[in-house]
Amino acid sequence: MKNILAFSGSNSPDSINEKLIQSVIERYPEYDINLIDLKQFEAPIYSPSIQAKGIPKPIQDLYAIFQESDGFIIASPEHNGLPTAFLKNTFDWLSAFTQQFFGEKPVLLLSTSPGATGAQTQLALLEKLIPIWGGIVKARYSLGSFNENFDTNYNTITNKAELQLLDKALFAFAEAEYEPKKTNAEVVQSYFDAFQKGDLDGVLDVFHPDCYIVSVKEEERLKEQLHGIYRTRKEARQFLRNIVSLFETKEFIVDTVLEAGDNLVVAKGTFSHLVRSSGKLFNSNWVQLCVVEDEMIKEYRFYEDSAALIEASNIEYA
Ligand SMILES: Cc1cc2nc3c(=O)[nH]c(=O)nc-3n(C[C@H](O)[C@H](O)[C@H](O)COP(=O)(O)O)c2cc1C
Repeated sequence: MKNILAFSGSNSPDSINEKLIQSVIERYPEYDINLIDLKQFEAPIYSPSIQAKGIPKPIQDLYAIFQESDGFIIASPEHNGLPTAFLKNTFDWLSAFTQQFFGEKPVLLLSTSPGATGAQTQLALLEKLIPIWGGIVKARYSLGSFNENFDTNYNTITNKAELQLLDKALFAFAEAEYEPKKTNAEVVQSYFDAFQKGDLDGVLDVFHPDCYIVSVKEEERLKEQLHGIYRTRKEARQFLRNIVSLFETKEFIVDTVLEAGDNLVVAKGTFSHLVRSSGKLFNSNWVQLCVVEDEMIKEYRFYEDSAALIEASNIEYA
């Protein structure tokens, strides 16, 4: 992983948690770890009335650094069983930009204290809270009895078993690749890409396991009937089978994929299907409406010229 941002949650000038981070930087020179001092980004205790006048400049600068970083190492001291008020205040301010201010990136949690527990109580709480702020906790490590287990002259943990635990945590974190989240439009585009390649498993992967599909008519349908409602990814497979058994697609053009707010993505285009039963071409404009959830299509509605399908299928209506 490149560009790792590290900081301690302490505002003490002699922070032992910051020393722990420094020892990590020296032990793993192969990782690009940028240690910052949160005291340089200090802000008043959060208050909505201060926020109304504008987010303090140091916090704006810190948020910009967060956005540029690919992962985070946080060494968090314990004050009365909790993370420090200083750290919490910094996080409160960052959440004024967005609650998910860690941006779905990996986080390594560290802590130490002079006591035997190594500030684990607060670290367990932080592990639960970080995902609420958009961080993905990859590993955590606590060093107990700092004064017995750490040599401040050489800036290193002296206990071999502890070093092994630290190595394991570091590896789990640093080898985790940050994959940027797909936008909703990219999710729908990936559906079309898989469809164009004839990769039906790839198409199915884009459907949410609990998806709701409307093919032209919002009505219950017989198993092999194309138009109607399909529920769950299992029925999505039936939907794709029905398309393939009815048509041989000659052309499928996507001209527009647009985000329309509220996780809705609108797409439109044209297609030309050969209707297998009649040998005639079914040409149509189409519109597709998708609601995207967790990078998958949760709700899918596809509209085409069904009158043209009737004509191309040689179906006669009285
Ligand atoms: C107000 C206060 C409360 C503390 N509460 C705890 C605690 O609950 N558990 C603990 O292990 N250490 C506790 N400590 C001791 C800290 O672990 C110790 O001060 C440590 O050096 C803090 O880390 P830092 O040097 O990185 O700031 C507390 C210290 C203070 C000042």
